[in-house]
Amino acid sequence: MQLEGKSVIVTGAALGFGYGIARALGQEGARVVVTDVHEENLSRSVSTMKADGSQVIMRKLDASDLNAFKGIVKETTDLWGRLDAVVHAGVIMPLEDWENGNEGQWWKEMSISFGGLLNATASAWDVMKKQGGGHIISIASGSSFRGYKKEVMYGAGKHANEGFVKSLALEAAAYGIALNTVGPGKRIKPTALTWEEIAQTPESVRSVWTDPTELGKAFVWLISQPTERFSGLRFDAGPILDSIRAEGWNFKFSPDKVTMYQHEMRYSMNWYENYSDTEG
Ligand SMILES: NC(=O)c1ccc[n+]([C@@H]2O[C@H](COP(=O)([O-])OP(=O)(O)OC[C@H]3O[C@@H](n4cnc5c(N)ncnc54)[C@H](O)[C@@H]3O)[C@@H](O)[C@H]2O)c1
Repeated sequence: MQLEGKSVIVTGAALGFGYGIARALGQEGARVVVTDVHEENLSRSVSTMKADGSQVIMRKLDASDLNAFKGIVKETTDLWGRLDAVVHAGVIMPLEDWENGNEGQWWKEMSISFGGLLNATASAWDVMKKQGGGHIISIASGSSFRGYKKEVMYGAGKHANEGFVKSLALEAAAYGIALNTVGPGKRIKPTALTWEEIAQTPESVRSVWTDPTELGKAFVWLISQPTERFSGLRFDAGPILDSIRAEGWNFKFSPDKVTMYQHEMRYSMNWYENYSDTEG
């Protein structure tokens, strides 16, 4: 068990990638608080994880609500004494031309995608600082560095996640807090596709989607790393999963084994290694 004794919170854990991540963490011994706005699907996650033998509790949480997020962190630490990681996977992704949107929609999307990461960080910060560190992980996407039609706010939110993680990593290092993002790095079911729609999807289509619980092993690996080892970086779950399968949990690190964008990772690692407070 890679995560025995660790306690973690996952947002968006009722469906899709967040569900798979939560399940993988539980299977490796972590105590998991699964959170989401969708209570019915959350119950489904909990049933499956309990059947795995995992220690799991569910809490309804809108990741865009800072006070509610703080409440979940307090409950977690009251219950389990510490908080080793928060993974923010909750998202909405309305496909809409920019000119059809409005102020309410722009900020709703941002407040979940980016606000959820801010709230996770603000809620976990003092706890992690006091206990000597922790992992804060958000989910990357092709939209973290490219643009797509009908996904303007989705792309803006994903870019904001990267900028936040890269920038705060420098200040967070003093407290042993690591901030990173992890993209799927393999095809997974499309965002927003429900359990019912998944069941109705032909096997020929479903078979190209990687099991999110398998990809969740990448998060097991990252959370099991010392927090001072990696921060401010973007990983991809697919290559990490391939590396675990090829060499085991303690595979020998190199950027090509953990991301599809190894040049960017090398650049970032070099940036942090040589960072000077005097640079503008
Ligand atoms: N599916 C893909 O192809 C893909 C590709 C790249 C990145 N991602 C990323 O993976 C992550 C998960 O996406 P997914 O595709 O699994 O989505 P999904 O639609 O399957 O699941 C998203 C979950 O977030 C929950 N959610 C919605 N609003 C919320 C809120 N306010 N607070 C908390 N939870 C909320 C939903 O109820 C749902 O359970 C996202 O960050 C997404 O950007 C997905």
